[in-house]
Amino acid sequence: FTVDASKIVAPVSPTMWGIFFEDINFAADGGLYAEMIKNRSFEFPMPMMGWREIKNGGNGKILIENTGNPTSANTRFAHITVNAANGTYGLSNEGFRGMGFKKGEVYNFSIAAKKISGDVKLRIEAVNFLGQKIGEATIANFAGDWKPYAASFTTTDTAFKGRVNLWFEGNGVVEVDRLSLFPKNTWRNRPNGMRSDLVQLLYDMKPGFIRFPGGCIVEGRDLTNRYQWKATVGPVDARKTLMNRWNVEFKNKLTPDYYQSFGLGFFEYFQLAEDVGAEPLPILNCGMACQYNSGEVVAMNELDPYIQDALDLIEFANGATTTKWGKLRADMGHPAPFNLKYMGIGNEQWDEQYIERYKQFHAVLKQKHPEIKLVSAAGPSPDGKLFDYAWTELRKLNADLIDEHYYANPDWFYQHASRYDNYDRKGPKVFAGEYAAQSKGIARTENQNTWQCALAEAAFMTGLERNADVVKMASYAPLFAHVDAWQWSPDLIWFNNLQSYGTPNYYVQKLFSTNKGTDLLSVLEVNETVKGKDSVYASAVFDKKSGDVIVKFVNASSNAVAIETTIRGAKPSKKEAAVQVLSSTDKYTVNSFEAPQAIAPSTEMAAIKDGAVSLSLKPSSLTVVRIQC
Ligand code: AHR
Repeated sequence: FTVDASKIVAPVSPTMWGIFFEDINFAADGGLYAEMIKNRSFEFPMPMMGWREIKNGGNGKILIENTGNPTSANTRFAHITVNAANGTYGLSNEGFRGMGFKKGEVYNFSIAAKKISGDVKLRIEAVNFLGQKIGEATIANFAGDWKPYAASFTTTDTAFKGRVNLWFEGNGVVEVDRLSLFPKNTWRNRPNGMRSDLVQLLYDMKPGFIRFPGGCIVEGRDLTNRYQWKATVGPVDARKTLMNRWNVEFKNKLTPDYYQSFGLGFFEYFQLAEDVGAEPLPILNCGMACQYNSGEVVAMNELDPYIQDALDLIEFANGATTTKWGKLRADMGHPAPFNLKYMGIGNEQWDEQYIERYKQFHAVLKQKHPEIKLVSAAGPSPDGKLFDYAWTELRKLNADLIDEHYYANPDWFYQHASRYDNYDRKGPKVFAGEYAAQSKGIARTENQNTWQCALAEAAFMTGLERNADVVKMASYAPLFAHVDAWQWSPDLIWFNNLQSYGTPNYYVQKLFSTNKGTDLLSVLEVNETVKGKDSVYASAVFDKKSGDVIVKFVNASSNAVAIETTIRGAKPSKKEAAVQVLSSTDKYTVNSFEAPQAIAPSTEMAAIKDGAVSLSLKPSSLTVVRIQC
């Protein structure tokens, strides 16, 4: 097996391997967004969803009042009458399938409140599954006008499925709103922050880009419920709650309490991208609701506000702080531009309605912002006619990047490792925007993140890498899933209220991303082998920063395969090569909370003799070899 290092085929795009984020499977509220209180402002259509009354010797009454102010995002609050001089009365919040508390950690509670009459004190109590107290704080002396209050407590024990009880003590009437509870330990200790364990997993991948906020969620079930970025920026309390597109019965999973608080909004996504060193890639609604739901489209003569949203987003991300949207970015704490370079128009759309709407965006954006590369959609069926229609039309427009989605069985991924080998080198570039091998069928509840699926994806990814001159971006999908609240499987990272783990697919993504190199090299003499003959798939890159030639091998067979690698045009400078291996002889192996690293990379060294590295590729394995030259 020979790698030709004498000439660079093409640069590998720094954006080659990235992340697809969608608020599906409780990925944002209940997941990445560290808020622990569900329905914190009583704005879900059923205002007491997530809440229940509790009594301990006292009496009381709760009334949800609605100011009816059509211009306000947050019109409801709770009017609470307390008659509890000799006992307590209160409200309890269940969190997102319970609340996770870690022993010895600090939790910050906040509330907006107004005293109407009497004297009422609030005792905040964290409890475990059995109702036993594991943390407590109090707030007293509420003023007669709306004011924010805060209190913190440190937990005495760990609870995976705890809740928070808010006990009102005394006699009187008090009004409350915006009840919030965060762990102090969020990513970079930011208030209104993100779960640090989940961001850490993303950070460790060294992703080239982050696509957000989806997925079908961009489209919404209908246009009223589409994702609108402007409703997700500015003061958190001014962001209007919206029904999540995945608040549906989907493949027998029901999550009727799935709403978006937008505490995690576009500013936070841009900040996340910056934190993990990734290019931000926002995707905007193109004037079409999800084609799997209502199929609602906006009339062509009503498209302007949608296009204006795209223009304003560029101003929000990159504009001077003297501009309207640039100023908002600065007011939110980020005067420097976010340096937006890519923007997607429409998610997974494909037909005439899409193309005619996309054309309008394309014309305006290319004229006003030629510096922004546009991502256009091609649909969900990579082998079908729908897909071909979008490609043909987008080629005519000389589109920058086309977003292909592939959800299929593992065999499809092996068979398509050569998908781009004969691709038109002068056409639009490819964004493999969503893909995942499915063990049982598309998004079925029995699907698991097995090694069989991860290995098939790895083989396919060698094909993407071998074609890095045309494939400029790729991302597995979906990214996150809460074990007790998901609609779609498989997913890259699974979590509960306290823990998270990367799947075998995660480690495949991470190995490619952290070994992406800077320049594509060609592999010689065994061209049939690198495309899967003898069950071996391979690709090679050079990394200018380290001087390493990096070769990736997938051995899809259940036998070990002996491979000798030599490098043409460069000389190894060390006596050993660094080798990272992911493997399992059981194709059904999965990672879990009990065994989070059942499949995780192991590292070893291989001798370099006479300029060659001899390896025995393990059965069913992904092997990454770094040879310093
Ligand atoms: O990744 C899950 C869904 O799959 C996405 O929301 C959609 O784009 C695709 O159909």
